[in-house]
Amino acid sequence: MTGNAMPSDDLNDSNSTPEAREGRGPDGLTEQELRRGRAEWWDDAFTALLLDAMPDGPFRLVDLGCGYGHAATTLLPAAPEAQYLGVDLDPVRAAACAELIQPLGGRARVVAGSALALPMAADCAEVVLSVSTLMHIDDVPAALSEARRVLRPGGRLVAVEPDNRVQMFRFDGSLPGLDRAFSALFARLTSLGKPAHPELGPQLPALLGAAGFDQVGFRVHMTQSAHAEPAETFLDRVSGVADVVAASAELSEQEPTLLECRQVLAQLREQLAGHEGYSVHAVPSWRCVGVA
Ligand SMILES: C[S@@+](CC[C@H](N)C(=O)[O-])C[C@H]1O[C@@H](n2cnc3c(N)ncnc32)[C@H](O)[C@@H]1O
Repeated sequence: MTGNAMPSDDLNDSNSTPEAREGRGPDGLTEQELRRGRAEWWDDAFTALLLDAMPDGPFRLVDLGCGYGHAATTLLPAAPEAQYLGVDLDPVRAAACAELIQPLGGRARVVAGSALALPMAADCAEVVLSVSTLMHIDDVPAALSEARRVLRPGGRLVAVEPDNRVQMFRFDGSLPGLDRAFSALFARLTSLGKPAHPELGPQLPALLGAAGFDQVGFRVHMTQSAHAEPAETFLDRVSGVADVVAASAELSEQEPTLLECRQVLAQLREQLAGHEGYSVHAVPSWRCVGVA
């Protein structure tokens, strides 16, 4: 998840036009912010979480909101018989992704299009994947219904979305003031709808059930960025998270919850100055699987 984006930084309403703000995608993030975030928290454990939800043998996978192809580049090497089709609302991202995944060969392709009107026939895929994309879509039931349309009977939707209200920061112990300040910041984003659904994760099982998916199962995985480092490095990174949140959701610098985060960070800079320690920023991600 944000600057250093954890699923938490995946902010903004993707239903706005992709060119709404120069240099920012429909999720409100710049290319650098999105890629830096993925580098920070998309680790082998996260890849294993996705692989664990895939069927055995050959399958065709549609990746909703493929971004810069992190799912393709991490999953396909471990699934040699899988065919991948990435879809992204932002044609610039779709083009960049197509170039990035070229080394994977003809089994990986990308098209520009919306998760609400997928440019493909019914019953054409065994898996539809969404990693931090549904949270950016206003009408999640409509996106789930469209996912069901393209899934073959028995195919599965695999959706992984964060619960950004739960922010866990640690530096050689708990930092409850920082947890609370960021939780309040994300509560504010929820009330603004920027992104559309910052706390979508825990709502996923019920939404999949209501959309008609069967055998709905879910588990919670902590996406995390964990380091041994000087306190200053940790606090710089967390400040970067707040910066990305503010920029992607177009918050005023006077937004009280943002000011509170900055104030808590400033206090911690004083308290922890010169310390080396073990830092964590973790956010729960809900992986939900439903059968069409
Ligand atoms: C936070 S990024 C996640 C990218 C990728 N799934 C990953 O985890 O690296 C969300 C992506 O969804 C795309 N997106 C947003 N709304 C969409 C929609 N309605 N249809 C298709 N893609 C959409 C954005 O352009 C963005 O690339």
